[in-house]
Amino acid sequence: MSLISSGESCPKVPKVTTATLKQRKDQQEPITCLTAYDYASARLLDEAAIDIVLVGDSLAMTMLGHDNTLTLTVDEMLHHTRAVKRGVKQALLIADMPYGSYHVSAEEAVRNAARFIKEAGAEAVKIEGGEKRADLIHRIIDAEIPVAGHIGLTPQSVHRMGGYKVQGKSLAAIEQLMRDAVALDRAGVACLYLEGIPREVAAMITSEVATPTIGIGAGPECDGQVLVLHDILNLTFGPPAKFVRRYQDAAALIRQAAESFRSDVTSRRYPSDEESYHLAGETRMALETLLERKRAFGR
Ligand code: KIV
Repeated sequence: MSLISSGESCPKVPKVTTATLKQRKDQQEPITCLTAYDYASARLLDEAAIDIVLVGDSLAMTMLGHDNTLTLTVDEMLHHTRAVKRGVKQALLIADMPYGSYHVSAEEAVRNAARFIKEAGAEAVKIEGGEKRADLIHRIIDAEIPVAGHIGLTPQSVHRMGGYKVQGKSLAAIEQLMRDAVALDRAGVACLYLEGIPREVAAMITSEVATPTIGIGAGPECDGQVLVLHDILNLTFGPPAKFVRRYQDAAALIRQAAESFRSDVTSRRYPSDEESYHLAGETRMALETLLERKRAFGR
């Protein structure tokens, strides 16, 4: 079997790969990324031609109702990544490695990263942290696993940061962020997520590194933008962060649909005759005869 595509079954929208991301940066074409945590949303994002579908560990909060991302396990992430994989055809599928899955040893990190590829069909894994993760990221890439970096406001460091705060506000912090970005770029990351940093700093990093940057709360000069699906749909039950743009109000839509359903059922407007299955002619007549007899003879 040849592994080189004949081109005959090429889809209309070409498959997004890690190479595509680099081309996009070089051609200055913005990259789009949204999070997805299940089959249906993944499929819809893919059909909307979103470039990267990210199974973010934000699912701990958006899907599972936790206060932060720290409790999430590898098995939980794999479960969601498998579901997302079934919905994605064209987009690049990146999965977050959860807290604790790459912090103990390089061997364990590579083993866990490989599980995302082998057991869930991810095409890259994302790891939070800068300079200090460069060697580890290099090891994982060495195992043929593309890695996305993530620096700035890294939610898995919430306790060290003392909350979800914008990073890179002092000159020293900016210098560290730049060192982080350069180290990850040299380690060979497929792209670099920049979260919660001033626009000017993200712009500087973007022009300094060869790898595409994907911003969230990092201003418009990044090579791409990512948002959390639940944020853009108003499914987060709280005021949005400054950088969030709400494109739809799914909360209102779901509430409205649920209330209409309740009202229809309690007032017996649902289901209607058209929404019911019917017996076919002969069986229906036989049943009617049976019921008539029952009525007449009381049995
Ligand atoms: O977990 C997540 O959703 C993320 C994005 C916000 C980048 O890491």
